[in-house]
Amino acid sequence: MAETKLSCLKDKRWSLDGMTALVTGATRGIGHAIAEELAEFGAAVHICSRNQQDIDQCLEEWNSKGFRITGSACDVLSRDQRENLIKTVASTFDGKLNILTRIRYAIAEELAEFGAAVHICSRHQQDIDQCLEEWNSKGFRITGSACDVLSRDQRENLIKTVASTFDGKLNILKSAVEVDKLVEAMEYQIPIGRLGEPKDISGLVAFLSLLAASYITGQIITLDGGYIIRTPNGTEPNRRPQSQPKDNYPCAVIPHDEKLMAETKLEFFKDKRWSLHGMTALVTGGTRGIGYAIAEELAEFGAAVHICARNQQDIDQCLEQWSNKGFLTTGSVCDVLSPDQREKLMKNVASIFNGKLNILINNAGTASTKSVLDYTREDVATLFGTNFESCFHLCQLAHPLLKASGYGRIVFISSISGLKAFPLCSIYGASKGALNQFTKNIALEWAKDNIRANTVAPGPVKTVLLDFLMKSPGVDKNVETLISGSPVSRI
Ligand SMILES: NC(=O)c1ccc[n+]([C@@H]2O[C@H](COP(=O)([O-])OP(=O)(O)OC[C@H]3O[C@@H](n4cnc5c(N)ncnc54)[C@H](OP(=O)(O)O)[C@@H]3O)[C@@H](O)[C@H]2O)c1
Repeated sequence: MAETKLSCLKDKRWSLDGMTALVTGATRGIGHAIAEELAEFGAAVHICSRNQQDIDQCLEEWNSKGFRITGSACDVLSRDQRENLIKTVASTFDGKLNILTRIRYAIAEELAEFGAAVHICSRHQQDIDQCLEEWNSKGFRITGSACDVLSRDQRENLIKTVASTFDGKLNILKSAVEVDKLVEAMEYQIPIGRLGEPKDISGLVAFLSLLAASYITGQIITLDGGYIIRTPNGTEPNRRPQSQPKDNYPCAVIPHDEKLMAETKLEFFKDKRWSLHGMTALVTGGTRGIGYAIAEELAEFGAAVHICARNQQDIDQCLEQWSNKGFLTTGSVCDVLSPDQREKLMKNVASIFNGKLNILINNAGTASTKSVLDYTREDVATLFGTNFESCFHLCQLAHPLLKASGYGRIVFISSISGLKAFPLCSIYGASKGALNQFTKNIALEWAKDNIRANTVAPGPVKTVLLDFLMKSPGVDKNVETLISGSPVSRI
């Protein structure tokens, strides 16, 4: 077997070793990248597509890399073939399947189902013939011809064929004709400034398949370079997007002695997409709870991490623990409610990390529970000051450092209270809701500086903060409700 991405890893949350996966439509494109990524993480993978020759070619390539991948032909459109596929998978994996990923493109079919006459193209005449046979047997008006859309001549030929097929009239143009112009137009709409690549998708799919992601369920995660956050006819983008050059990973920005550093989670890893080696991070509220776990995880992935909280003793304790493990961590006191202390914090961070910050985790937050009528102006100022304004201001202060790093990442820790209404949580929920919206705007504005912004909105998590909330009058009986309302049945 190949050395899997994480075979050297003790933390099984980041390995798929021993797991089984089925990826449909995996001989090229996104499915191909997903199958390969899952196999690299140690999973045994079965793939299917309609073309046995393509499958054989993929398997040969993967088997020569030592991946455990099998495959069989299946047209997922056919019920019989689907049943056969699952029988094959069941016998290959002894009746146990951990991961099922389904990729399928059905634009042509859907248009035909709505009564349109459709012409399709792809590079392989054999694939086209197979599709046409199927579709024609269903009575769809679909024709097709071979065309490699990257060739200008073949594109011109395609248009001639389409013109003669449809008597010179075309209502809908889908996909890749005039590919350059279409791509350019689409890239212009995407804040990150480029179309996605299969590897962009496969990384997330692999992550979602890992034990490390086991508390994520029922989410729809858009992976679109920020496409969805723009209003369709909004103002002119403030830039011509600059794509980040491929493999432009940040160089080490802080001097450190490699020999003294802990073995990082992904030290043995050639694929830099799964490493934070050489990166710098600031985690606010990093002395306990969610912030502590984040700081430790980032350090385990190789980042140099600075934490802040209000209590120096707690900071010292954390740093001692982490330094015993060989992590590159520093820390300083900062009450994020105070603008002066935020400025001091960022000066500190700039000097420790030589003016470059890769990752800003806005985690520190506070909560209180009162009815709308009982909240005072001071309560609102404290909740919004800590949970929203501090994050906004820290982003402003960090911008030059994030930009200078060439690879900036901001993660806000919001809450499901910012998405749903919970009793006595109106102002906490509003402050987190503000963060959710702010994430979209900052992601849009700062994409041009290679800074990405995202929010993680946790449900109830066992921490001091939750303990405090649960003891508040009128809230304590909600624990049972919270657990029973969660599909995973745990906090
Ligand atoms: N736990 C949950 O159920 C839950 C659910 C959804 C979202 N969240 C969010 O997750 C984040 C972390 O919560 P948690 O549950 O991990 O809380 P926690 O256990 O109370 O930890 C909070 C951390 O932030 C620090 N902190 C608090 N106020 C601060 C301030 N004004 N300035 C600087 N540091 C401050 C604390 O240290 P000091 O007190 O020493 O300053 C501590 O390190 C918060 O934004 C919270 O709203 C939590």
